[in-house]
Amino acid sequence: MIPKLARLSRSAPKDRPLAWDKYWAGITATGAGGEVLWDSGRDHEFLGYRDVLLRHLDHDLPVVDAGCGHGSFTRALAGIFREVVGVDVSAHAVSRARAELETADGPAGRVRFEVRDMTAPDAALGLADERGANVFIRGVLHVLSPADQAALVENLRVLAGSRGTVFLAETNFQGNPVDYVSHLGATTKGIPGPLERAIRELPMPGHFGPAERSAVLPEETWELLEDGAVAIETNPMTDVAEQSLVPGYYAVLRPRP
Ligand SMILES: C[S@@+](CC[C@H](N)C(=O)[O-])C[C@H]1O[C@@H](n2cnc3c(N)ncnc32)[C@H](O)[C@@H]1O
Repeated sequence: MIPKLARLSRSAPKDRPLAWDKYWAGITATGAGGEVLWDSGRDHEFLGYRDVLLRHLDHDLPVVDAGCGHGSFTRALAGIFREVVGVDVSAHAVSRARAELETADGPAGRVRFEVRDMTAPDAALGLADERGANVFIRGVLHVLSPADQAALVENLRVLAGSRGTVFLAETNFQGNPVDYVSHLGATTKGIPGPLERAIRELPMPGHFGPAERSAVLPEETWELLEDGAVAIETNPMTDVAEQSLVPGYYAVLRPRP
């Protein structure tokens, strides 16, 4: 398995934003049975976050879905918040999110999408009002380098301002890349399509749990309101339901003044 993984992952562009945009350019189907590895096509995971979001996020503020991909969580957020902005480094992801919004049921008037590299200086400009914005971020920190994580966190601080709160949910799988892809259904006989595409086209992901959170969002500057374990629901690619659940971590944080 190791040589095959190494061969596949060699073809991913080294430039991360470019890799993401090429990936999204090639996606033709989302949801369960579609091509996107981290898209379960269900709202079950989001519903597990709902009470936490309602408990901690100020309802008068907009919510920014940072690294929104094709916007399924952005649309779900618009079911409970009045203004939601999905932002992503990939223009193709944003086009897809806009197209899916047009055909989805629900509060389309509350959602918009923009192309932004959330690690770039000034990426937060125009996304928050004078009191700040809430931020929802799922499955993004674990795909960034530590330097990019730090740059993104600087933007989270600006976005949150004096009243905003950050909710993050990330995969926190402990094990090597072979353990990880095996968990998701890869065997010596074959690799499920959405997983193979991600290995071939995207930077190798890391993991993000309490240790990574306290390194990049330390207690001295960020108040930790709540955290814990969560199951990140992925596209079901085998008959074994547990294989589509990746151990994850969620946290709710607010910048200290
Ligand atoms: C694993 S996907 C998660 C997408 C979405 N949050 C979800 O859970 O369905 C990671 C997303 O982060 C985006 N991304 C990666 N680097 C980014 C950056 N620097 N700024 C904004 N988005 C970024 C990618 O284009 C991709 O859509």
